[in-house]
Amino acid sequence: MKVKGKNYKSIWLDKKKSIVVVIDQRQLPHHFKLLYLKNIKEIKKAIKDMVVRGAPLIGVTAAYGIYLSMKNNTSDKNLNSSVNFLKDARPTAVNLSWALEFMKKKLLDEKPSNRVHASKKLAEKISNNDIKCCKKIAENGLKIILGIRKRKKNKTINILTHCNAGWLATVDWGTALSPIFLAHRKKIKIHVWVDETRPRNQGSSLTSWELLQEKIPHTIITDNAGGHIMQHGMVDMCITGSDRTTANGDVCNKIGTYLKALSAYDNKIPFYVALPSNTIDLNSKNYLKDVPIEERNSDELTHIKGINSKGKNTKIRITPKGSKASNYSFDVTPAKYVTRLITEKGIHKPSKIEIKKIFS
Ligand code: MRU
Repeated sequence: MKVKGKNYKSIWLDKKKSIVVVIDQRQLPHHFKLLYLKNIKEIKKAIKDMVVRGAPLIGVTAAYGIYLSMKNNTSDKNLNSSVNFLKDARPTAVNLSWALEFMKKKLLDEKPSNRVHASKKLAEKISNNDIKCCKKIAENGLKIILGIRKRKKNKTINILTHCNAGWLATVDWGTALSPIFLAHRKKIKIHVWVDETRPRNQGSSLTSWELLQEKIPHTIITDNAGGHIMQHGMVDMCITGSDRTTANGDVCNKIGTYLKALSAYDNKIPFYVALPSNTIDLNSKNYLKDVPIEERNSDELTHIKGINSKGKNTKIRITPKGSKASNYSFDVTPAKYVTRLITEKGIHKPSKIEIKKIFS
């Protein structure tokens, strides 16, 4: 997608220097800075510190991490320890373990002498495949938007989204935002309600920035405003991404997604989830037991970050020092509240049978 008119992906390999280049998402929307990752330790730190975030991008970054590690040592021992080293960088996004297991399986089939070349090719393949999936999701999601446009007789379509599931969360295009980008390019009138997404504010800092770059009309709202605007007929559809979707179609996504889905259900507003099929975890069956929910540092809750009037990054405390704070980062929306899943393969009912069909 474009940043000030120039095409960017969220991650790429500088082939000459063999280093991984990413956009430092902690600095957005105020500063657009690139960061250069030279080894697996820097890759892990970038994932943990959320320089890169969003389930698909976390997976792609980890795959490049394996390539950087193979450049140092191509033994089975190093391959296994590199995979284990990266695996717990962030626990909820299943794309991380998916990408690492894919890399490991394929590389164990290669002779060690070929593993540098092979790991580079495999990481590039995962990255390119992510772009293809997101483009397909855009096309599939567009069909839903076109249906709503027909019903609304060309009036503006109001779409609510939570967190950031745009191109910054993937390699390009995004998941939940990709149908919106495509619809806008096709001159469909769209307005996006952007949940701020406390505590890290991925909605108000990243989604709004992406929509601004594409000149898509949008309004940032507090996380608690969704129910109110739904009751007042101001939302035609909701769409979010996912960090892990169970074999039964239950959707784990950024904390607060569940409450939006409940409001949507109560107000008979369709709630869609857009995701590449590698975000579906067939091993997760019971969403209360099988989905690890990341708990991040409570600092993210007790302090707020931004820039001051001089344009300098600032962090200030907003809670009393003695109060305890818990920072649950994800929740699960049970399948019964999800209207449809949108993947690169099509539009699916969130049910065990339909999900099985995606992989058959
Ligand atoms: O904690 P984050 O910023 O990595 O969380 C991101 C989300 O919750 C996204 O909605 C999800 O990863 C889907 S991204 C296409």
